[in-house]
Amino acid sequence: MFNGIYENKKILITGHTGFKGGWLSLWLSMLGAKVVGYSLGPPSEPNLSEVIGLQRGLVEDIHGDVRELEKLYEVFSECRPDIVFHLAAQPLVRLSYEEPALTYETNVIGTVNVLEAARKTESVRAIVNVTSDKCYENQEWIWGYRENDPMGGHDPYSSSKGCAELVTSAYMNSFFSPEKYGKDHQVGLASVRAGNVIGGGDWGEDRLVPDCVRALSKGKEIVIRYPGAIRPWQHVLEPLSGYLLVGAKLWADGPNYAGGWNFGPSDEEVWNVEEVVQECIRLWGHGSYRPDPKKHVHEAYWLKLDCSKARIDLQWEPRYTIKQALEKTVEWYKIFYEGSKGTDMRKFAEGQIESYGKPEHGPDLVC
Ligand SMILES: NC(=O)c1ccc[n+]([C@@H]2O[C@H](COP(=O)([O-])OP(=O)(O)OC[C@H]3O[C@@H](n4cnc5c(N)ncnc54)[C@H](O)[C@@H]3O)[C@@H](O)[C@H]2O)c1
Repeated sequence: MFNGIYENKKILITGHTGFKGGWLSLWLSMLGAKVVGYSLGPPSEPNLSEVIGLQRGLVEDIHGDVRELEKLYEVFSECRPDIVFHLAAQPLVRLSYEEPALTYETNVIGTVNVLEAARKTESVRAIVNVTSDKCYENQEWIWGYRENDPMGGHDPYSSSKGCAELVTSAYMNSFFSPEKYGKDHQVGLASVRAGNVIGGGDWGEDRLVPDCVRALSKGKEIVIRYPGAIRPWQHVLEPLSGYLLVGAKLWADGPNYAGGWNFGPSDEEVWNVEEVVQECIRLWGHGSYRPDPKKHVHEAYWLKLDCSKARIDLQWEPRYTIKQALEKTVEWYKIFYEGSKGTDMRKFAEGQIESYGKPEHGPDLVC
């Protein structure tokens, strides 16, 4: 996969103790990369990084805060990464209403710090900054957002991701411009925007599938907010395959792949919250749900991404339907909660990554 570009490369991932960072670290280890992770501790209990044993020989685990620039300088200069994936963030919309300052410090200043540390580290050739589909100014319209639509964000989380995009764009224009690549610098910088990601090993708060699994595994009723809200649901390996493609392309051909990239499900795959819950219950085998009558903080109702750019320029396309993504996800949790004791969840997760790459699911993952 990815033309072997990751083999023996030193990769620094921020947020490796989180859901997406855990899967990305595992995938990169399978590709032969030497992975260094820089994060605070896992965001939940249980959590993916411990369940698959990332610290057992897969990742050099560094405990650190992206708000600490000096510590980042130290880590970058010691580890001398070739490629950086920045995922560390405060990723929750509802928490961002309670903790706006923490959200901006982590998501905006944290991004500045990671880019600054990368700028001062000669070994770095590619940086992939992970933001969100929520970075766009939401017009509540039915069309997907394109990479060149205006940034925005109604709530502190979404706006912090819009700000992180503006920071990335300023760094690209000022320090890593494609026009000056090979003369003033040798860094390709991209930002990647994906939607609501599902998959085994997420126990984040206020996330639909983890909320369903928490309730189903305890025989409780699922309580849902916004039953009609549309989100670009996709399996976690979908955006990660896009991030890995962008990273490999930046490494091989920096200036041509710098900038923003959307990764989302195909247009006909539009499911609302209630449909996702009903399918989770069907796959689990039993369970019930009811809408939560309480008033909730504002969240976007319609949110879709236009992924034409990734499809045409990267030959990336989603490999799973939402139904398949939910099957893989519920299968993972069922094994975790109900599988025979001693199931090796790392092996199981590796099996899901191998299966995702198989030709029956789409074109080869090459660049
Ligand atoms: N999960 C989704 O559906 C989704 C959707 C769109 C975008 N994203 C983005 O993807 C990235 C990863 O999300 P996730 O779902 O894996 O989140 P997560 O909560 O599972 O993981 C977050 C990670 O960031 C780390 N972190 C938090 N604050 C930190 C700090 N100050 N310093 C260092 N590390 C810190 C945590 O320790 C953890 O490793 C985030 O940038 C998020 O905004 C996620």
